[in-house]
Amino acid sequence: MKKVKTGIDAPLVPISYELVGLIFLVEAVLTPPNRGRICLIIVGLFAVIGGLVFLRTSLIGKARIWTKLLDEAGVAPADQALDLGCGHGAVLHQVAERLTLPGTVTGVDLWRSRDQSKNSLAVTRANLKVWGVSDRVSLLTADMVKLPLPAAKFDVVTASFAIHNVKPTAQRERALREAVRVLKPGGKLLIVDTGHNRRDYQRVLAAADCRIVRSRGLGINGWWSGPWMASYVIWAVKN
Ligand SMILES: C[S@@+](CC[C@H](N)C(=O)[O-])C[C@H]1O[C@@H](n2cnc3c(N)ncnc32)[C@H](O)[C@@H]1O
Repeated sequence: MKKVKTGIDAPLVPISYELVGLIFLVEAVLTPPNRGRICLIIVGLFAVIGGLVFLRTSLIGKARIWTKLLDEAGVAPADQALDLGCGHGAVLHQVAERLTLPGTVTGVDLWRSRDQSKNSLAVTRANLKVWGVSDRVSLLTADMVKLPLPAAKFDVVTASFAIHNVKPTAQRERALREAVRVLKPGGKLLIVDTGHNRRDYQRVLAAADCRIVRSRGLGINGWWSGPWMASYVIWAVKN
């Protein structure tokens, strides 16, 4: 039986953590017992554990966050949904599983491998087959900053750890305004993201006539190595 390929988010980050950690630990083994050796062990372990926590968030924590959020926010079976920066389909398939035709979800992405390893439309399409949701999902190669989609088309728009990848800030803000543009009045925008941009997102959404229903931190399931790189959810409704 074919397996789903999920990819690793920002793969260079955990690889760097693990490499640095291993270098410090090997150096510790080669160093005679003294205070310096203890420091090497502490830094080495810190980096190795940070890398493992990062991988856990990418492979397990993120999925748990979205299961809970989609249950809380609710997706109606006939909803039209859009997932911005869908990558391998971690959120896309969770949304699709809540839909029955004519309910559909569209996944938009530019398939950047630096943001998620081995990212491609073909891999995501194959994943959707394995999940058994292909009939309710369409994939679109497009930039979320300029969506080739009509206004007020969707009941739900999701974005999972994708908007922070859009740079610089002005483009990120355009992506947020695009997300609101394609939402129907009363439609839900669900963003899960990381970085120090939560307040900026809230400001842009409020200015775009979106009411923020919920905004909170997400705990260990959203730690990208540790609490210093935490995640948050913003749940907004278009007026
Ligand atoms: C960290 S990955 C997260 C993927 C997926 N949402 C998930 O949670 O597994 C970020 C995704 O955003 C996509 N992305 C980055 N900039 C984008 C843009 N301007 N337009 C569309 N997708 C973009 C990347 O290609 C990547 O697939």
